[in-house]
This record gives sequence, structure tokens and C-alpha cells, in this order.
Amino acid sequence: MKGPTRILVVHDGTMDESVIRALLSAPDELQVVGFYDGLGHHMPAADVLVVACGVYSEEAGSLIREGVEDRPERPVLLVTQGAPNGYVDHAYQAGAADLVVLPQPCDVNLARAMSHQVLFTINKAVLKRDPAAGGEGKMVVLVGPKGGSGKTLTATNLAAALADAGRRVVVVDLDLQFGDVGLALGLAPEKTVYDLLSSGGSMDAEKVEAFLVEHESGARALLAPRRPDQAGLITVEFLRDVFAVLRSSHDVVIVDTPPAFTPEMIAAVDVSTDVCVVAMLDALSLKNLKLGLETLELMGYPQSAIRFVLNRADSQVGISLDDVDAIIGRAPDVLVPSDRAITRSVNEGAPIALKAKASQAAQAFHALASLYTDIPVTAARRRRRLGFSRTG
Ligand SMILES: Nc1ncnc2c1ncn2[C@@H]1O[C@H](COP(=O)(O)OP(=O)(O)OP(=O)(O)O)[C@@H](O)[C@H]1O
Ligand SMILES: [Mg+2]
Repeated sequence: MKGPTRILVVHDGTMDESVIRALLSAPDELQVVGFYDGLGHHMPAADVLVVACGVYSEEAGSLIREGVEDRPERPVLLVTQGAPNGYVDHAYQAGAADLVVLPQPCDVNLARAMSHQVLFTINKAVLKRDPAAGGEGKMVVLVGPKGGSGKTLTATNLAAALADAGRRVVVVDLDLQFGDVGLALGLAPEKTVYDLLSSGGSMDAEKVEAFLVEHESGARALLAPRRPDQAGLITVEFLRDVFAVLRSSHDVVIVDTPPAFTPEMIAAVDVSTDVCVVAMLDALSLKNLKLGLETLELMGYPQSAIRFVLNRADSQVGISLDDVDAIIGRAPDVLVPSDRAITRSVNEGAPIALKAKASQAAQAFHALASLYTDIPVTAARRRRRLGFSRTG
């Protein structure tokens, strides 16, 4: 991490400020960016939240919980001088990353002597959340080498379904020239990836968050530039930084892509954890999918990290699901039916996964979402839930 670790302190008024500051006195390594009695809006950006309270109480538990809810990616450290039985469990349950227990009484000198221990605990908590340490979310890239196959439909509905399941999720529109994630989610492009690029300066989670647009489901989106000419300025290096930051602060980063292996799309696949291919029941779409899968194989992408969505799977077009198996070499994981309600939902900017939850289409997207959460859904159950039988 560059520069000192930024610490935000909130306290319940029962601990001496000078003691808390002495505990955090590691000038080159820690920087206290704020000191407040309680959490509020417009607090400064920080890497760690320290909750300080003389004696652990319900209020301390609430501060921890609110701190975690406010910014799940920012570890919360409890500093206390002791407490009733069971408070350690209580603090961890509230979401504390770690605890520092001070002796009683504790004066400024003693606190300063303990600052090494506190620094160590803070560094440990930060490291645990560091992307390089493996604490980051999944990154799912939608791939569909034929235009109009349903990538954007899938990206936006997957995001809505994951948000509905309580996941912190963001969609990145990597169709930089003609992206329509905003339209599909009914979001105005008040802020786009181009504005993030133009804002300059260093990039961290809070900076990037200021350029995300939030959908009512809680899913967020980093929208494509408003004009195609702005797309050319967005570099692969910049996008890599964006992905790393988004992964550190979200459970799932979903990336919608243009219908081609563009450099941005390849860069996204390179750093992703999962690829979701989307194809339709037509010869061109399946041919391009086969080529796409072969390209992924050449890139060394693990087959086990690839999911396959067959869109408009119920079309009667002379190609059966068995033909798909034979052409592609694998069966689809999820089948999305052709449905006028889908077309309408796209036009209205209201994802069908939330708008008509009981529909087969919505259930397909919720089933897809469950593949990216820890809820195991077997293929058989999935098929039953979708209500499809194999045709042909
Ligand atoms: N299963 C479906 N039922 C009804 N309409 C659908 C279905 N799938 C897609 N559509 C319609 O097709 C359009 C194209 O889908 P979508 O935008 O998701 O494709 P895409 O793969 O993102 O296209 P592009 O490659 O051009 O970005 C949608 O706007 C929607 O109206
Ligand atoms: Mg699209």
C-alpha cells in the first residue's frame, strides 16, 4: 500500500483521546484522518476504522456493525479496555476484524508503548483485505462473440439477481463505444468510466465508488462513455486498476463486453475468475461460441471456470439441445427462454429478474446467480426449476 494507512477513529466518549492517539502513534505508517464520537456521513476516506471504547457495550457493537455496513471492504478494529463476559464473540459477530485489549488503567506512556502491537494488528487486518492476499470478490466476464446474443441482458439480470440475494455487486460496461448497460438498467449516464478517467489522481475504492451509478436493487454500474470518441482514451492499464479496486470492494464484479475479442475484453478475461459465455440457438452464434471457447482455451483459461448460458433456448429453429451439446462439446448451465416480456423489460430498463420474479426468464437468471454464490445448485435441480425439458 502506498503512503501511510489511513485510520478513522470513532469512539463512545469513554476513552481519553490522547490515549487513543498515542496508541496510533506510528507517524510514517499510520495517519489518523478523523476522530469522531459516532459514525456519520461525509467522513474522510480511510483504510481502517478503529472503534474505541473504554468498556465494551451495546453501543460499541452498533458502531462496529454500522462501520461494516457502511464500507464492508474497510476492516474494523476494536480497541477496548475490557468488558463483560462474551464481548469478544459479540465484537466478532458484529463484524470486527480484530481486537486490541488495553490494560486498565492505561495512560499515554503505556499506550505509546503498545503502539507497535496496534500497528501490527492494523497491518494484519489490512493485509487480510488486500486483493493480493486473496480477499477479493469474483470477476465474471460475459462473452458472446456474436452481437445481440444476450450478453447485456444476462449481465444486467445477473447483477440484479445477485443484488437481490444480498451480494455487493457491480457491472462494468466494457462495450466502451456502444455500451447499453445503463439503458438496460434504466440508469442515466450521470457518471461514466470516462469521467473516472478524466478525474485523474490515484485510484482507490472510494474514488471509484464516486463514479458508480446505483440501481434500486443495490447493484451498481460503471457505465460506458456517453460518446464513442471518448472510448479510445480508455487504456487497458487503467481498466486493470479499475478491476482490482472494484474487486477489493465487491463480492462480484460483472463485466459486459462488446461482441468481439477487443484488447479491453481480453484484459478483462485475463484477470477474471470466471467467464460466462452467452449464445443463441442459431448456427452463427454457435459457430462463434465454439471459436470463442477455443480462443479461451488458447489463452489457457480453465474450462471449469466457464459457464454457458443458452439464450432463446426454446426457439424452434431446427437445432436441438443435443445438437448444441454435439457442436459445443458441453451442455448449457442455464437456459433462458425467448419471451416478449424480456424485450419489454429491456426497453423499460427494468431487469426481468426483479420485475417478474416468477417468470421462467427470471428464474433462469436467479439460477445463474446461484452459481456465483456459495449456494450449490445441481444441474438437475436447475433444469427442474427452469421447467425445461430437453427438446429434439
Ligand atoms: N430471451 C430473449 N427474449 C426476448 N428478447 C430478447 C431475449 N434475449 C435478448 N433479447 C432482445 O435482444 C436484444 C439484444 O440483447 P442484448 O443487448 O442482451 O445482446 P448483446 O449480446 O448484449 O448484444 P451486443 O453484442 O450488441 O452488445 C435485447 O435488447 C432484447 O430486446
Ligand atoms: Mg451488449
